[in-house]
Amino acid sequence: MLKRITLTQFLVSRQRDKSLINADLRLLIETIARACKGISTRVTKGALADGLGSAATKNVHGEAQKTLDVLSNEILLEANEWGGNLAALASEEMEDPRPIPTHYPRGEYLLLFDPLDGSSNIDVNISVGTIFSVLRCPKTDAGAYCDPSEQAFLQPGRQQVAAGFAVYGPTTLFVITVGDGVYGFTLDRETYSYVLTHPDIKIPEDTQEFAINMSNARRWEPPVKRYIDECLAGSDGPRGKDFNMRWVASMVADVFRVLSRGGIFMYPRDSKLKDGRLRLMYEANPMSFIVEQAGGAATDGTTRILDLQPSALHQRCAVILGSKNEVERVTSYHRK
Ligand code: AHG
Ligand code: MN
Ligand code: MN
Repeated sequence: MLKRITLTQFLVSRQRDKSLINADLRLLIETIARACKGISTRVTKGALADGLGSAATKNVHGEAQKTLDVLSNEILLEANEWGGNLAALASEEMEDPRPIPTHYPRGEYLLLFDPLDGSSNIDVNISVGTIFSVLRCPKTDAGAYCDPSEQAFLQPGRQQVAAGFAVYGPTTLFVITVGDGVYGFTLDRETYSYVLTHPDIKIPEDTQEFAINMSNARRWEPPVKRYIDECLAGSDGPRGKDFNMRWVASMVADVFRVLSRGGIFMYPRDSKLKDGRLRLMYEANPMSFIVEQAGGAATDGTTRILDLQPSALHQRCAVILGSKNEVERVTSYHRK
């Protein structure tokens, strides 16, 4: 029988054998993973637990919040407030960052999350997930951790120390990187632990599958339109091969598919969504870190996403990520 490596064992090996993470970061990742089990349980209950439908509130983006958006946010906040490893948290569902309450110890990390990604899919029983990103809280000249205000979060994605996501699909998956590759774990519902099932994930460099919301086609920027037109032309066009299309409309599910069998995922800027749709700090950055660690690439059309200097916590950016050679092709069309 195959030896089962749990998430805890994996993280201990990253701490003890490789010195890649410290005890605080290990605890932080384990705490997030545990919170994701709670969210998974609630998602699975669906209509049985009054979890579906809207919450009658809007988030900072003006989007109607779902009941489960609010609940998932609360689960992540409650799980992470008291561990002593964080200075502050920020979320898609909260306008401002939340410093750790003063009655708990503060630590060196900043946590950002999209508590429920793809939440428009929740009522129709399609996969959703959670995305997170971990940064270090900058220190003052005197060596103290700085005031964990919005400014502290505004670091380029290449400075992330860990990133990951959960997918609540037919199985619950937890995918992470701490900077030495990408590892996927499946939640075992009998032991309630995460088991390493997808070690050292690598994205094939070429692909014949693309993911984009085609209903925006008339508004796309010309390089993206050219790329998709060439894919659609298939074996009769300049690419000389047929392409397939998928669009789940949950980034977690679309990106996991890209990690599993290659592909290109795009949410480009267009004439209506001038900065694209996805959020840089808690969607594009963590997913770009993961995709690069799996041997893929991620750009906004012209710039590597991990090199973008953020200017606001909730800013959006165009996203083109996945199989390296296809991302490079779209980026080269932008250069022309
Ligand atoms: P969220 O539910 O956190 O707001 O994110 C939804 C995002 C992303 O998961 C997905 O790729 C995209 O929005 C779907 O956009 P469309 O509705 O345009 O398909
Ligand atoms: Mn999202
Ligand atoms: Mn969300």
